Amino acid sequence: MDFTPTQEHELIRESAYKFGQTEVLPGIAKLDREHTSDPATLKKMGEAGFLGVCIPEEYGGMGADYISLGIVCEELERADSTARVAMSVHVGLHAMTIMQWGTEEQKQRWLPKLATGERIAGFGLTEPNAGSDASNLSTMATKDGDEYVINGSKIWISLADYADQFLVITKLAKTDAKAPYAAFIVDRNTPGFSSRAIKGKLGVRAGNTGEIYFDNMRVPADCMLGEEGDGFKVAMSALDHGRYTVAAGAVGVITACLDASVKYANERTVQGEAIGTKQLVQQMIASMVQGREIGRLLYYKVGFMKNKGLRHTKECSMAKWTNCAAAFDAANKAIEVHGAYGFCDEFPVERHFRNSRGGMIYEGTHEIHTLMQAEYELGYRVDRPLAKTLPSWPFEKKTANV
Ligand code: CAA
Repeated sequence: MDFTPTQEHELIRESAYKFGQTEVLPGIAKLDREHTSDPATLKKMGEAGFLGVCIPEEYGGMGADYISLGIVCEELERADSTARVAMSVHVGLHAMTIMQWGTEEQKQRWLPKLATGERIAGFGLTEPNAGSDASNLSTMATKDGDEYVINGSKIWISLADYADQFLVITKLAKTDAKAPYAAFIVDRNTPGFSSRAIKGKLGVRAGNTGEIYFDNMRVPADCMLGEEGDGFKVAMSALDHGRYTVAAGAVGVITACLDASVKYANERTVQGEAIGTKQLVQQMIASMVQGREIGRLLYYKVGFMKNKGLRHTKECSMAKWTNCAAAFDAANKAIEVHGAYGFCDEFPVERHFRNSRGGMIYEGTHEIHTLMQAEYELGYRVDRPLAKTLPSWPFEKKTANV
């Protein structure tokens, strides 16, 4: 494993950092305070190429490797979690799952417009009674000729009001498949689709989160990703990509907390001395540095495994579990460094504190990842080779094979 960033990694980091600082950060405190999202940012992320960063060039993407995706997520979340959440659902949970499970025809149908942001994508797995217990779905798809009729709803859906299409996981009413689940790419303009925003969130307030509803929504059979029976596996592999982006983004939260804390600790004086000279402040800074360095190594490792086409569910869970806890801890410590100023939105750390709490809930709670890691170690959980894998990087050129 080579940890030396390539020139491409450095350029992508610089461009994502600049984007975060100039396009996301300036207006974020106001949007966050007013619980308002700004879809123009998504459009600009598309124009900058971030929404297609690791989509192969032949499908209109930048064709960069999966470590580059992590770097973009890290630098965007350094500005605010909302931009990284968009990367997680659009690129990680949706586009990369099409890259893994889609037929050649489906990839050509969907990926080019996703790569540029011409279409925005979301992901629908969670339901009111299916969170950690993800297989306990009530949303039902019933086959009717060459269509499926979908009824049900999904909750806690990022970009619920903005996404043009969603990857939706359902149960199947009638099927001979071993597992009664399916995955569909669903267009929001389909009759029977509706959405509603969720208000009053603790964090990620400048991001759109909501519920989506399906009322006798008819979806063509060729919008199914994988086959009947694959739905739960499609969902789990989507989470391998989503959790990776969350793990990488969490490092950006730590860096933002460090940026703010180092500046404050050097400027704020007590009895004529910068508080940065005080050992208890230094201890908190050192702990954040530790979180950032460990966090980067963990997500780089997962990015490396993705590049090589290796199964990485265990390593990805470890990175997400460790980094999200470290980000929340760093934000808490950053508030401590800022004292009373950390308790108000004049400084960014209280926003990172509220945002980072979400990372310990979505894409597998802290407890789910704790249990997964224990199960791996005890031998109760084993990652076996997958039938459908994410394309390894460098991407192979495909000959048209529709
Ligand atoms: N890729 C492909 N297939 C996979 C897989 C993966 N990563 N992981 C598991 N599978 C397959 C398994 O091989 C198995 O198939 P076989 O029966 O053929 O062997 C099948 O899927 C079932 O796997 P498990 O037995 O491991 O499933 P489980 O029931 O033990 O899973 C769990 C339990 C790990 C806790 C799982 O339910 C889970 O991850 N829960 C958390 C769900 C979650 O993270 N939700 C977040 C929602 S998305 C979100 O939050 C985003 C947002 O919008 C904010």
